[in-house]
Amino acid sequence: MYEIKDIMLADSGHKKIEWVRRNMPLLRALEDEFIETKPFEGIKISLSIHMEAKTAYLCKVLVAGGAKLAATGSNVLSTQDDVAAALAEDGIEVFAVHGASPELYDKHIEMCLEHRPNIIIDDGGDLVGMVHTKRPDLAGEVWGGCEETTTGIIRLKAMENEGVLKFPMVAVNDADCKHLFDNRYGTGQSVWDSIMRNTNLIVASKTVVVAGYGWCSRGIAMRAAALGAKVIVTEINPVKAMEARMDGYDVMTMEKAAPLGDMFVTATGCMGTIRMEHMLKMKEGAILANAGHFNVEIDMDALEKECREKKEARANIMAYTLSNGITVNVIAEGRLVNIAAADGHPAEIMDLSFAVQAMSAMYIRDHHKELENKVIDVSEEIDDVIARRKLASWDIEIDTLTPEQEKYLSSWEV
Ligand SMILES: NC(=O)c1ccc[n+]([C@@H]2O[C@H](COP(=O)([O-])OP(=O)(O)OC[C@H]3O[C@@H](n4cnc5c(N)ncnc54)[C@H](O)[C@@H]3O)[C@@H](O)[C@H]2O)c1
Repeated sequence: MYEIKDIMLADSGHKKIEWVRRNMPLLRALEDEFIETKPFEGIKISLSIHMEAKTAYLCKVLVAGGAKLAATGSNVLSTQDDVAAALAEDGIEVFAVHGASPELYDKHIEMCLEHRPNIIIDDGGDLVGMVHTKRPDLAGEVWGGCEETTTGIIRLKAMENEGVLKFPMVAVNDADCKHLFDNRYGTGQSVWDSIMRNTNLIVASKTVVVAGYGWCSRGIAMRAAALGAKVIVTEINPVKAMEARMDGYDVMTMEKAAPLGDMFVTATGCMGTIRMEHMLKMKEGAILANAGHFNVEIDMDALEKECREKKEARANIMAYTLSNGITVNVIAEGRLVNIAAADGHPAEIMDLSFAVQAMSAMYIRDHHKELENKVIDVSEEIDDVIARRKLASWDIEIDTLTPEQEKYLSSWEV
């Protein structure tokens, strides 16, 4: 069963999946292992992650492990119809259409849950949210799940604190092998890939304002500087602000940065990071992009309501003329720019993140009976295994502690 745009697009999807497969050695090794051991035999998994080639390969790896899988995309603009078609052609249940309406998006989430999952793999919390709101009848059958991103974990922790979370959820994002690499180097590279390919403008010589100095923003700022931009960081956290300053960037409020920036990239996870009062102070032609999970960081509602004129400036770029006559350009409707208007993170990065996902799903399978209905950390062992396998794929060896060193590092007597 599937609901996609067009099954005839499958050939192009298969090519994209084969390309990433060649560049995802950890997932390839897990696939080989899963074909032998069938760790998910008979287990029902519902998955909602950006429906593009890397995610599709994760789906195929889980199915190779025996899972009965239903998949949807976590963002209608990141769904690639050819990739969804390839999965459907492979016999996987997939419900995802690029640019679907909010109603169709919700319907696809529901269809993905009709499957009555034992394990949920979520990105941003929409599947888990739907179980807790519209389909609480399913909660008893869910052993637990895994959450991919920072914003999803914030939502889950709020549910845990209110005592409403109905099953354990592994915080995949918080694994070292995830956020240190995916959020920083993955977002850092893919955000600039997207901005450059969509604007066809140079980054060198520009002033780039980066909102936030968390894991994603650090990567975005680092790569902007490497491309030759002057970088300004805005923050609300004094320690992160200090870190940005020590890393060599100017730090100031968004109000002060607004008239200085040529390009603005926000990755705070917080609504209203760039508001109308800031946009009214910007330079003519300023370019705005959001790299956070939801399209709430740039106040798009205010822009839509209060602009004098709106027109497409280029594919994926909308130009809004404000009440003061200034025009600002927003990429990808203020949705996460690297995925909605490009191909997302590099394959080698998602290799790490999805290895954490696959191994965390196995952890849920093995431990769900003893876990509380809380947000659970990824075990250190999983991080260790994945990092060692990644190093091995690069042919890198590292040192091992001698028994004397182990004793020295674990004792308090000199
Ligand atoms: N685009 C992608 O591919 C991608 C990848 C991973 C995560 N994400 C998403 O990006 C967002 C950020 O994730 P992260 O892991 O960097 O989170 P993080 O918690 O490490 O960093 C967020 C930072 O933003 C700061 N902040 C919060 N509100 C602010 C405001 N109003 N103004 C300025 N700074 C503010 C916080 O102090 C914090 O330092 C989340 O929504 C996450 O889900 C996107």
